[in-house]
Amino acid sequence: MSSSMLSFAFLLIVLSVTLYFGSTYASTQSPNIVVIIADDLGWNDVSFHGADEIPTPNIDALAYNGVILNRHYVMPMCTPSRVAFLSGRHPLRTSMQGYPLKGAEPRGLHLNDTLLPEYLRKLGYTTHLLGKWHVGYLTRNYVPTRRGFDTFLGYFNGLIQYFNHTLIENEQVGYDLHRIVGDNHTIEYRYDYMTNLITEEAENIILSHNTERPMYLQLAHLASHASNAEEIMEVYDWKETNATLGYIQDINRRKFASVVATLDKSIGRVVDALNKKDMLKNTIILFISDNGAQTEGPLYQNFGSNYPLRGLKSSLYEGGVRGAACIYSPLIENSSRVSTQLFHITDWLPTLYSAAGGNSSDLYQLDGIDQWSTIKTQKASKRKSVVINIEDIDYSAALMGRYKLVQDKSDFQKHYIDYKGNDPSYPKYNMTNVLESPAASAIANVSNRVVTANKIEELRKEATVVCENLTTSDCENRTCLFDIYEDPCEVMDISSQYPEIVKSLNVLIECYKRQGYEKAIILDADPAGYPSNSNNYTWIPWLPDDYVPSNKVYFTINGAEYAEI
Ligand SMILES: *[C@@H]1O[C@H](CO)[C@@H](O)[C@H](O)[C@H]1NC(C)=O
Ligand SMILES: *[C@@H]1O[C@H](CO)[C@@H](O)[C@H](O)[C@H]1NC(C)=O
Ligand SMILES: *[C@@H]1O[C@H](CO)[C@@H](O)[C@H](O)[C@H]1NC(C)=O
Ligand SMILES: *[C@@H]1O[C@H](CO)[C@@H](O)[C@H](O)[C@H]1NC(C)=O
Ligand SMILES: *[C@@H]1O[C@H](CO)[C@@H](O)[C@H](O)[C@H]1NC(C)=O
Ligand SMILES: *[C@@H]1O[C@H](CO)[C@@H](O)[C@H](O)[C@H]1NC(C)=O
Ligand SMILES: *[C@@H]1O[C@H](CO)[C@@H](O)[C@H](O)[C@H]1NC(C)=O
Ligand SMILES: *[C@@H]1O[C@H](CO)[C@@H](O)[C@H](O)[C@H]1NC(C)=O
Ligand SMILES: *[C@@H]1O[C@H](CO)[C@@H](O)[C@H](O)[C@H]1NC(C)=O
Ligand SMILES: *[C@@H]1O[C@H](CO)[C@@H](O)[C@H](O)[C@H]1NC(C)=O
Ligand SMILES: *[C@@H]1O[C@H](CO)[C@@H](O)[C@H](O)[C@H]1NC(C)=O
Repeated sequence: MSSSMLSFAFLLIVLSVTLYFGSTYASTQSPNIVVIIADDLGWNDVSFHGADEIPTPNIDALAYNGVILNRHYVMPMCTPSRVAFLSGRHPLRTSMQGYPLKGAEPRGLHLNDTLLPEYLRKLGYTTHLLGKWHVGYLTRNYVPTRRGFDTFLGYFNGLIQYFNHTLIENEQVGYDLHRIVGDNHTIEYRYDYMTNLITEEAENIILSHNTERPMYLQLAHLASHASNAEEIMEVYDWKETNATLGYIQDINRRKFASVVATLDKSIGRVVDALNKKDMLKNTIILFISDNGAQTEGPLYQNFGSNYPLRGLKSSLYEGGVRGAACIYSPLIENSSRVSTQLFHITDWLPTLYSAAGGNSSDLYQLDGIDQWSTIKTQKASKRKSVVINIEDIDYSAALMGRYKLVQDKSDFQKHYIDYKGNDPSYPKYNMTNVLESPAASAIANVSNRVVTANKIEELRKEATVVCENLTTSDCENRTCLFDIYEDPCEVMDISSQYPEIVKSLNVLIECYKRQGYEKAIILDADPAGYPSNSNNYTWIPWLPDDYVPSNKVYFTINGAEYAEI
């Protein structure tokens, strides 16, 4: 090659690099972002909230060295929560606030919505999704790699079996584990425990990452969702489960604890890989649960615990929507604290966009609020209220400051008190275990402000919700108002004392209804999408790319009717 050809080639490289990054703000300094989403994990299922029953030392190490987000509100169910997270918009804007998507249901997160990975990609990020999607796959245009992710290894539906990755629904059995890179879609036929499969893949992505570019990695775990196999929960290793968690007498709870312990180990491995690759010092790690635990059947009871909060997954009480969450990053200036500032799951899109170096004022029509400075430097939160959900006249809830209004006529009104987490027969919380966990060791390598045992004790106490009185007040036939600061367990209805507050909260709900509120939509599964012969026993996109989903309102949620589906 002549020297002029060489310089021409060089010029081309410079040009294409400039073209690629030309219109963006990002530089190599933009932080890597790792988001870990647990499925149906309850408030009381992480040990940083005070329970000794299931030790989660790696998650706890992130929490204590980062910020514990103790008023982090999510949607009460999977699909709506993931829609809110990915789009930064309230699912009630696009009829997605209701019942989670079924297999072969011909609807999905509206193609008009631009998703978080797409925004980050514009800032120069490589983007990867591992695990659950569950916001629609009716046509190829809906799959993760056409919604902003460079790569996807995971499943389209709400759950799969932990080992063989099939979904059994409507008497239909099909594989649901896909690897998609660009438009190259292959079905992964393998037999590997899902939590570990995702972890290995995450390690590979991290260790082979080209650090010239920032990385966005989303691990949307199957853990700790119930399985639809007969055994309810599939543990990775029974022998180890019995050896380490044998003190939990209730076998279903022990299985659940094992699934959570495997998830916790995964998080240790991911943090360790980030450190090994020398990326941790410039990484943000967010850990959230998508909604509360499913503490009662008939479907997908996982034996998680929201204690002492009221209600469960799908309900508008705190047990359904006040999710376990924490964020860790060496970039956070005011860390090792419990934040009681109000957060909503829609906030992550503008918050992470801002942390990535973008200007969140460039984002339009979001419900999320940029809270990066609230996290990084403890600035006062701009969020004063949250509309928790509106599906119907009888099913809505909103929060303003300390007050929460709940209209929820469902059958699931009570406090579930089976798994309080602090039976004296359980081993005591082990600080050394936290301080020596893989996550803490990795953190110690990039931080000069590592949390001490005394500080852990203090933070854990502060993060624990204690309620003496769990007498459930009747809200089945009326609207209840609670003072969430004084009464986090929603025991005392104070609506008659504060009619003007009830009124303002109703005004807030009405405002949302007037500005782009759409009724929840749920459609019948389309048999053409079943994993029968024609689809090779897999759940895959089955409609032509230009198909436009129906917006017929087929079923409006009304709590009690869930079970009839
Ligand atoms: C989607 O965007 C297109 C083009 O901007 C617009 O015409 C259409 O009305 C939008 N659809 C919805 C449901 O918002
Ligand atoms: C598509 O992906 C598969 C599995 O990763 C790989 O073996 C194959 O070479 C890819 N095909 C193309 C055209 O890139
Ligand atoms: C997958 O595993 C589940 C749960 O163990 C089992 O019920 C099902 O028969 C298995 N399916 C296949 C195709 O192996
Ligand atoms: C684990 O404990 C359960 C309940 O005590 C028992 O049924 C099972 O056989 C044990 N499994 C192993 C591998 O020890
Ligand atoms: C700390 O991280 C550096 C890379 O930044 C690595 O070389 C070193 O081995 C790590 N030390 C420990 C104890 O992990
Ligand atoms: C945040 O941390 C900085 C430095 O560690 C400290 O000076 C400041 O007071 C802290 N801010 C708040 C609100 O505590
Ligand atoms: C972000 O954009 C807004 C509105 O365009 C502008 O006023 C503000 O200065 C920008 N902020 C930064 C940090 O560039
Ligand atoms: C606490 O954990 C450490 C290390 O993980 C272990 O060596 C020690 O025996 C544990 N302490 C107790 C009291 O169980
Ligand atoms: C609510 O109203 C229904 C229908 O009138 C009634 O059956 C039910 O017992 C009431 N619930 C409570 C807790 O009073
Ligand atoms: C417990 O809460 C119930 C319902 O709000 C209330 O009626 C009762 O007085 C409370 N009991 C105590 C001991 O505070
Ligand atoms: C099913 O698999 C066969 C062979 O692997 C392939 O030719 C065919 O296109 C597949 N069908 C669908 C609907 O994916």
